[in-house]
Amino acid sequence: MGCIRTKLIVYSIISLLFLGTNSLSQVQGETRRDGMYLFSQFKDAIIYVLNRQQKIINTNPDGSVKNKQLESEVYFKRIYKQFKKMEAGRNFRPKSLEGVRDPEIIAPVLVTLLQAGRIVTAESQGIINAEKDGTNIKKKFIPAVFGHLVLTRFNKKTNSSMKQTTLGKGKHKQRNDDNRPDLWETEALKKFSQSDWKRNSGYGEFLADSYHFIQPIYISKDCLSCHGLPVGEDAPYGYPKEGYQEGEIRGGISVSLPVK
Ligand code: HEC
Repeated sequence: MGCIRTKLIVYSIISLLFLGTNSLSQVQGETRRDGMYLFSQFKDAIIYVLNRQQKIINTNPDGSVKNKQLESEVYFKRIYKQFKKMEAGRNFRPKSLEGVRDPEIIAPVLVTLLQAGRIVTAESQGIINAEKDGTNIKKKFIPAVFGHLVLTRFNKKTNSSMKQTTLGKGKHKQRNDDNRPDLWETEALKKFSQSDWKRNSGYGEFLADSYHFIQPIYISKDCLSCHGLPVGEDAPYGYPKEGYQEGEIRGGISVSLPVK
C-alpha cells in the first residue's frame, strides 16, 4: 500500500468514468496465443495507458498543456527504439511473429517490450515532472506505475499473466505486495543473483500446460534517485530506499503463456 496505490485507484475510477460501457465490454480476455496477436495487444496496451495518462504526462496542474514532447505516439516510438537496442528486440520485425506459437520465442519479446517502456519512463522523469516555470512536481507516473497499468490491461485482454517482481534487498522486500514472487519466480531470481549467471539472460521452463519465462531487470542510473543509497532514506513517492547500486539486479519481469 502507499500513496501511489491510492492514486492508481483514483485514476482507475476516473478512467472508468470516461470509458463508458461500450469500451468496458471490450475488456474481456481472449486465449489466442499467436505471437503477432500478443505483440499487437501489448502495443495497444502501452498506447492505451499513455493516452489515458496524457493529462499527467503533458499538462500542468491547472490543466494547461505543458509540452508535447511525450505524446503517446512519440512516447511509444521512444520505447520501440529502446526495445530495438535490447537483445530480444535487436533483430525483431513485428511480421516475424506472424503465425508463431512457440512460447519460447514470444515470451522474451513481450518482457523486453515492457522493460523498454520502464526504462524510457525512468529516463523521462525530468520531462514528465517539470512544469513550465521550471519547478518540479511529482506526477506519479514512474516505471513501476507504467508497468502495472500496462500489465493490468494486457493480462485482462489476453488472459495471459505477466508480472514485475523482486526479492527486494536486505530487509527491504517488495514495495508493492502484488509484486511478491511466487516459488518459481523466487528460485529464478536467486539464480540471477549468482555470479556465474550470464547477465541479461532470462530463464524459461515448461510447467504443466504453460511456459514460464522471467527476464532479469537491472538498476540503471535513472533508478537510483528512488532505489539507491543511502539505505533506509525516504525515497521520492515514499518507501525507504533499498540501497541498490548501478548494475545490480533489481528483480524480474515474468510471463506465463498457455501451451495447450
Ligand atoms: C521516481 C521514483 C522511482 C524511480 C525513478 C524508479 N522507481 Fe521503481 N518503484 C518506485 C515506487 C514508488 C515503487 C512502488 C510502486 C507501487 O507502489 O506499486 C517502485 C517499484 C518498483 C518495482 C516493483 C517491485 C517492488 O518493490 O514492488 C521494480 C521492479 C522497480 N521499481 C524497478 C525500478 C527500476 C529498474 C527503475 C529504473 C529503470 C526504477 N524502478 C525507477 C519508484 C521509482
